[in-house]
Amino acid sequence: MSKQSKSTICVHAGTKVDPATKGMNTPIYTSTAYDYVDVDLYAYPRYFNTPNQRAVAEKVAQLENGEAATIFSSGMAAISTALFAQLKTGDHAIFQNDLYGGTHNAITTELTRYGIEFTLVDSLEPEAYAKAIKSNTKVIYIETPSNPLLKIVDIKAIADIGKSHNVITLIDNTFASPINQNPIDLGIDIVLHSGTKYLGGHSDLSCGVVVASKSINDKLWDSAIHFGGSLEPQSCYLLERSMKTLALRVKQQNENALKIAQHLEQHKLINNVYYPGLTNHPQHDLAKSQMKGFGGMLSFEVPGNPDKFVKSLSLIKSAMSLGGVESTITSPSQTSHSKISKEEREKVGISDQLLRFSVGIEEADDLINDLEKALHANSK
Ligand SMILES: Cc1ncc(COP(=O)(O)O)c(C=O)c1O
Repeated sequence: MSKQSKSTICVHAGTKVDPATKGMNTPIYTSTAYDYVDVDLYAYPRYFNTPNQRAVAEKVAQLENGEAATIFSSGMAAISTALFAQLKTGDHAIFQNDLYGGTHNAITTELTRYGIEFTLVDSLEPEAYAKAIKSNTKVIYIETPSNPLLKIVDIKAIADIGKSHNVITLIDNTFASPINQNPIDLGIDIVLHSGTKYLGGHSDLSCGVVVASKSINDKLWDSAIHFGGSLEPQSCYLLERSMKTLALRVKQQNENALKIAQHLEQHKLINNVYYPGLTNHPQHDLAKSQMKGFGGMLSFEVPGNPDKFVKSLSLIKSAMSLGGVESTITSPSQTSHSKISKEEREKVGISDQLLRFSVGIEEADDLINDLEKALHANSK
């Protein structure tokens, strides 16, 4: 059968139809105890293999063009398990410097505690990653588009560097979603998502995803059952149901974000707009070559007091997470990146004036009107 489109995979892939009723949806299997005698593979929630876990894992794996996926209870559970499944004391890991704050905090505290060396690469140039490789380097980890500055790294170049040095490559693909970017097609080994964001998409579910080849996924599974960060069946079902509309939602978010970024770019009351879909974004051509859409995330700087601006918004809500159907805005320096020192934040370009905007599926003009009202209130 020819490869199905993303929209079709979103709706159909992975569904475990109940043979007794033939209902359209995967039933919620609440059991934590399963027969082990008359079965090929015995199921247990912490083994990541119950029917609801498998249903949603198959859907995400197909969307990312991967062989297998594992579903976790949060993005950080997925990220930390994927890293610790690959790394041990004495190893070296390379990370992009401009990362989601939680990932940055996790690596700078946990890896040090376990005697794992790491280098933060303060450059988007692939050669800088190649230069950082040592004889004990085991992984290269990137995040593109990055949170919160929407910087773009050349995924294929990083994958090629990994392959030529026998180093596993990982990418946090949360901001793009599997609709806009498929890093496995470009040679990346492990794709990570905070499913709390676009995959869930309704700001009511915490989960994480790892997608990889079968052999990498099997190795990860050995560690995952020890760390135990599995997702329970009701949330797996909610995730499966939410993902049926992922392609539709992301398409609308892509369109809205581009329209809003283009509007803000011209605006005299805005300082800088960061969005990979803008032709003046420094890596726009690269983004165009590796993304199918530019995503629903953008950042911009407002002069004066960003809190006053945020409080003047009415439709767009101030909130810490992202990727939901509703538009939300946050100050990275006060939330996701607050544990990173001001000096370090400013080094990567995160000013106190920076706001990160997660564009929802509302009508773009309504969002623009809300922004206009708040910008004018802020300028008084
Ligand atoms: C890009 C990115 N990766 C990972 C995470 C962590 O995900 P979770 O909060 O689901 O653990 C986040 C959370 O904001 C994120 O924005």
